[in-house]
Amino acid sequence: MNIIETIDQMNNEKYSYQQEGKSVGFVPTMGYLHEGHLKLIEESNKNNDITVVSIFVNPKQFNQQSDLDGYPRDITRDQELLKQYDVDYIFYPDSKEMYPTSLTIDLSLSSRGNVLCGKTRPGHFEGVLLVLSKLFHIVSPTHAYFGLKDAQQVAVVKALVEDLNFNIQIIPVPTVREKDGLAKSSRNVNLEPLEREEASHLIKALYVGRKCLIEHGLKRNEIIRSVNDYLNKHVTGQIDYVDCLSYPTLSNEITENHAIIIAVAVKYKKARLIDNFILNSNGDFIYKERN
Ligand code: PAF
Repeated sequence: MNIIETIDQMNNEKYSYQQEGKSVGFVPTMGYLHEGHLKLIEESNKNNDITVVSIFVNPKQFNQQSDLDGYPRDITRDQELLKQYDVDYIFYPDSKEMYPTSLTIDLSLSSRGNVLCGKTRPGHFEGVLLVLSKLFHIVSPTHAYFGLKDAQQVAVVKALVEDLNFNIQIIPVPTVREKDGLAKSSRNVNLEPLEREEASHLIKALYVGRKCLIEHGLKRNEIIRSVNDYLNKHVTGQIDYVDCLSYPTLSNEITENHAIIIAVAVKYKKARLIDNFILNSNGDFIYKERN
């Protein structure tokens, strides 16, 4: 396992693996790895000759300094964890390496960005697009792995590679959950004990939405109302959003032919939690979520 801190060094490695014609799986992360990330790494290992994991807390995707400062970091722990996995390279640049000068280019989204997390975290997905465009160029993977907990991110990244012709296959990987159903996230360590107990209601709220879909059909407002009612009764955290949209286009005009996403976000004192189900119009899980 090589730990690489500069773009020059990563370029050298890239030229050699490209010359050897290897398939390269890439798992971009912001560190503080959990089982969700490890699942992405396993998938990459299974299907590629080489796996590259990047660890970089990208300042451009945080719209609040306090959120950036409070983001958990522990590179020693991450390295120890990764030793047990068959990772070939950890790309671990610092901010100066990734953003040495102020930028002239700005990337923006014409759709998919003004709903869900994009609405409540302005600038977030622009920052994600920027860092991933850079990382995709630096690593040149053949495949890149993303967790479906951040389903909007997957939708945005799919648009990025299609619109800008990155020759990379995007592989969405189903959400990994705690025993009580809470989606694994680096941010879960920031939950207070009572908040942590309450957090299991997010998935229960999604099941309420799914039940509404199965029993009453594709009635978007009813689905949203049922999920909102459940959350209002069961969580003290602030409901950031509840929505039901087409997937991956993220439009509120949904028909029977569309995959749909039911998505929620709840804000606690030091952690904002998100979760979603991606379903067909009969309520079946598209990505083999638990039933
Ligand atoms: O999902 C994340 O952790 C980040 O948004 C990503 C994809 C690593 C880009 O910084």
